[in-house]
Amino acid sequence: MAEILTLTLNPAVDVATSVDRIVDTRKLRCSTARRDPGGGGINVARVVHRLGADCEALYMAGGVPGLTLSAMIEAEGLHATRIGIAGETRENFSVRETSSGREFRFVLPGPLLAETEWQACLRHIGGLAVAPRYLVLSGSVPPGVPDDIYARVATIVRQHDTRVVLDTSGAPLAAALAAGVFLVKPSLSELCTLAGHELDDDAQRLDAARKIVRDGGAAIVALTLGDQGALVVTADRALRVPGFAVPVSSSIGAGDSFLAAMVWSLNRGMKFDETLRYAVAAASASLLTEGTRLCDREQIERIHRELELAGADIVSVA
Ligand SMILES: Nc1ncnc2c1ncn2[C@@H]1O[C@H](COP(=O)(O)OP(=O)(O)OP(=O)(O)O)[C@@H](O)[C@H]1O
Ligand SMILES: [Mg+2]
Repeated sequence: MAEILTLTLNPAVDVATSVDRIVDTRKLRCSTARRDPGGGGINVARVVHRLGADCEALYMAGGVPGLTLSAMIEAEGLHATRIGIAGETRENFSVRETSSGREFRFVLPGPLLAETEWQACLRHIGGLAVAPRYLVLSGSVPPGVPDDIYARVATIVRQHDTRVVLDTSGAPLAAALAAGVFLVKPSLSELCTLAGHELDDDAQRLDAARKIVRDGGAAIVALTLGDQGALVVTADRALRVPGFAVPVSSSIGAGDSFLAAMVWSLNRGMKFDETLRYAVAAASASLLTEGTRLCDREQIERIHRELELAGADIVSVA
């Protein structure tokens, strides 16, 4: 068993293209499309693999797009296990409007899963001969799957030393936090939904993150704030991590890259500040590439060195 296992219940074939201007009614002649394997856990596994760690992606897929997805995962050299489903894996579509630089992301719900299918996934995790050190539960929950699926997974692996890492939204996020995880990475909108109100400044965001830690929801809350970087809270620390500006080609997968580098560096036993520098470096590196191409190790190391040199630093907040 790999040291880092990721789970993707609702993966996608990500199709990315560009067009000069988006207008209604008229045919929009797009550039040649780029296709990448996508979905939270798969993206995390791709970046962890590029960083050179022992990683496996577990995912559910079906239909012709599911075969395409498996072929793309294999082509990346990723160690992966697929649980077959009767439905068709979704395709997500993103278009970059070159005249404005804006990116439009069309995200489909994904296929309806039968109870036997998601139960097979739980059985697979329950039956792992060797437990991973980190289990990353990332991405949306497809139709037909109960909202407490990630909570159930977290409960199944509790008997082992596995550290559960969570990146999802809405009811599945709330349910998994009620079960308790090691690390959660909400975006600002995900944390606002969880808190039930807007979080307008760092003080309010800090309160909401601290509440998760206090209630036993997660030992580490890494709140990502887009170009503003991140706010990371544990039982005894609260750190403000500045973002690193790069020319943005596509913001798809920035959060996944952040999480991948954080898990990779935690698994390597790096100091906490260092894990956060790597997380920001990977997130910024992923912005440089189009669609869901994500980043490679050389780009991550280059930005990481720049972050160290710039001394743009991580500060403790009260
Ligand atoms: N425009 C930007 N400029 C600089 N850094 C950015 C920008 N957007 C995102 N980032 C970096 O990426 C990290 C994650 O971004 P964000 O908070 O948007 O995640 P997310 O909403 O989970 O993204 P995803 O779409 O992958 O789910 C941020 O903490 C930051 O380091
Ligand atoms: Mg996200």
